[in-house]
Amino acid sequence: MNKTEKYMQLRAQVASLMEGENDTVANLANVAALIHGTFGFWWTGFYLVRGRELVLGPFQGPVACTRIPFGKGVCGTAWQRAETIIVPDVEAFPGHIACSSESRSEIVVPILRDGDVLAVLDIDSRELATFDEEDAAGLEAVAASLAELF
Ligand code: SME
Repeated sequence: MNKTEKYMQLRAQVASLMEGENDTVANLANVAALIHGTFGFWWTGFYLVRGRELVLGPFQGPVACTRIPFGKGVCGTAWQRAETIIVPDVEAFPGHIACSSESRSEIVVPILRDGDVLAVLDIDSRELATFDEEDAAGLEAVAASLAELF
């Protein structure tokens, strides 16, 4: 399967998960596993907005930082801007938070409702420049379907 086909399949699988279950943690956990397994990323998970911080939610991959302040790191910046951020080289992103020294590139996609960020989907790769606009569009579609969980 090419990337376009993988995103089509992913969207169908997420829709099917969401139809059968409405628990937030259960669905975020399975969606993290689906994305992680489909693409073989290094780390795939969610950070949930809790007051002025993001707190670690369901994920797949190595142990990660548990709290990220508003505006800090790639995740906190995506929250502040309420938009997707693609980072081709994490060392070139000022303030990047290195939960794992293996991470080389990253994408963070906010889950939005009425312009408010409810959570972010964060994905790390061990290779440089893994993520492009097709990933952003595919993951934003997934994020949009998850907003109803919050
Ligand atoms: N690199 C992220 C922190 C989270 S870990 O990648 C799982 C950041 O700069 O926000």
